[in-house]
Amino acid sequence: MTTRSRRPADARADRELEVGARAHYEDPDFYTATYRKRIDDVQFYVAEAIASGGAVLEYGVGNGRVALPVARHGVEVVGVDHSRAMLADLKRRLGEEPPEVRRRVRLREGDMRAVRVRRRFPLVICPFNAALHLYTRGDVERFLARVRAHLAPRGRFVFDVSMPMMKDLARSPERAYRAPRFVYPGEGVVRYEEYFDYDRTRQVLFVSMRFEPVARPERRFTLPLAHRQFFPAEMEALLHYNGLEVERAHGDFQGGPLEDDSDVMVFVTRARRGFA
Ligand SMILES: C[S@@+](CC[C@H](N)C(=O)[O-])C[C@H]1O[C@@H](n2cnc3c(N)ncnc32)[C@H](O)[C@@H]1O
Repeated sequence: MTTRSRRPADARADRELEVGARAHYEDPDFYTATYRKRIDDVQFYVAEAIASGGAVLEYGVGNGRVALPVARHGVEVVGVDHSRAMLADLKRRLGEEPPEVRRRVRLREGDMRAVRVRRRFPLVICPFNAALHLYTRGDVERFLARVRAHLAPRGRFVFDVSMPMMKDLARSPERAYRAPRFVYPGEGVVRYEEYFDYDRTRQVLFVSMRFEPVARPERRFTLPLAHRQFFPAEMEALLHYNGLEVERAHGDFQGGPLEDDSDVMVFVTRARRGFA
């Protein structure tokens, strides 16, 4: 069988995804400010961590929005992330914690599709859409193989991703969606708009976030974000065929059912018996 050489268009598409997987995490101060009110998921993961009775492996640990509260509750965390900026911010934040919290957190810079921690955990987590940066079937297979390799017998893999929102997928790529002005750390008040461009073939939603500082409009800048869209039955099938069974699927962080109008999909899974 001959192998088709990769076309420039493929390489361009890969670069587009790589940029869309990283740009949003280059500015940890902006990330922290943007998601400071998101606390339901943190409480959920802290409860799961305490209930697991052991250490937690967190994929896509970022700057510790989840890992720090978990460690403050007495649970050891090993965090994996490929963003140097986010990990540096987490290290800085750890420096402000008491020594016993600091000692509970270990970090590994690397790709969650590849990193080997050489240890098994009763709980592996991948909070807040980190799994939406798995764009292809190959990405999903490599990642879930790593998850299984790090799960203790009867351990759980728990993660959450956004439910695909039909209104976002249907938006015109030409149209700007304006949101209220807000204070961007270091830039002051900014005008803010978003563009949505859904690639139906790859099931990837490309979002361009455009910021224009009111006092210095010439400093306007754009942050791209690429999120794979997984539909619920598709996700269940991917988990199944990669050796994980869904124990529970919720539509919120309070244990509510996964329904048509849920914004989020929370999966509590275990390694599937008999999967080689
Ligand atoms: C939305 S943030 C979640 C961070 C943190 N868990 C939280 O809940 O705030 C997603 C994180 O996944 C990381 N990430 C994305 N793709 C990754 C990959 N292939 N390997 C490792 N980290 C990745 C990003 O750098 C980012 O820090």
